[in-house]
Amino acid sequence: MVINMNKKKIKIFLMLMIMINLLFGCQSNINLKNVSLPQDDFAYPTKDPSVLEGKKFFAQNCAQCHSFGTEAGKKSFTLKYINSVTPSELFKIITSDKKHPSFKDKLTIKDRWDIVMYLRYALFGYPENLEDTKIKFGANCAVCHGTRGFGDGDIHYFLNPPPANFNQFDKFYERTDEHLFDRISNGKPWTAMPPWANRVDKEKHFVFDEKFRWELVRYVRHFGYVTEKDILEELKTKELKEHNE
Ligand code: HEC
Ligand code: HEC
Repeated sequence: MVINMNKKKIKIFLMLMIMINLLFGCQSNINLKNVSLPQDDFAYPTKDPSVLEGKKFFAQNCAQCHSFGTEAGKKSFTLKYINSVTPSELFKIITSDKKHPSFKDKLTIKDRWDIVMYLRYALFGYPENLEDTKIKFGANCAVCHGTRGFGDGDIHYFLNPPPANFNQFDKFYERTDEHLFDRISNGKPWTAMPPWANRVDKEKHFVFDEKFRWELVRYVRHFGYVTEKDILEELKTKELKEHNE
């Protein structure tokens, strides 16, 4: 009798969990700070922001008060801070935060996104070993997420919810790096997303250790902004300059 009751309870519990998952499956436990904005102040970018453009705008608009190291009289940004805020929150600070100068009338929405992604790039960076990570992502993640991160891997048709599309601004600009790291490490319950912490890839001979899981966060993020081409262009112009001097 007692055992029956427990089984029943477990069944009811499981049913409840499934229902909760169906209801809230697409949401996640991100902690959006309650910044309320008039519609015009906020819009997601229409194409990938440019880090190089952002660098230019940062120098013109932010560098007099901010730095990346510790400079006297300047408020410096830290990696820990950048990993703990969403790109959207950064955008909102320079747009509508009452304690901060607003750049709403000085910079276009595109310019502000460029700055936000430059800020993120300057501290958190690009995948350290892009080619190697691309191969490992290809071997372990692309079957669901697709090689270019659009959530269109070979088996995506069979999955509900479908694999995340890393190019989707309205989703990924609402995520902190810490959240993505947690998902990659521990998986997402009630979805096909498995936990990867300390798994061993026997074919490619590596472990999903903490360092590599952060590299994967950088990799997943790199789909959402233009860097590679930017940096190459920058190098090209530098070389050209040096050449001409
Ligand atoms: C006139 C000086 C000034 C300028 C210009 C300025 N800021 Fe700030 N910013 C500050 C101060 C002061 C704070 C700290 C405010 C606080 O503690 O609430 C701050 C805080 C921030 C924060 C939050 C940092 C944290 O650790 O909480 C961000 C992000 C930020 N600024 C981004 C920018 C960006 C991007 C620009 C350029 C578009 C910019 N700021 C331009 C003075 C400035
Ligand atoms: C078997 C399919 C599958 C594989 C393999 C897989 N994922 Fe996922 N992934 C998913 C699904 C499904 C979700 C959940 C999507 C949702 O919540 O809407 C997800 C979610 C995520 C998220 C969280 C997105 C969010 O906003 O919370 C990240 C980050 C992620 N995957 C990265 C990876 C990485 C990196 C790998 C490889 C190491 C990987 N995934 C392998 C299916 C997969």
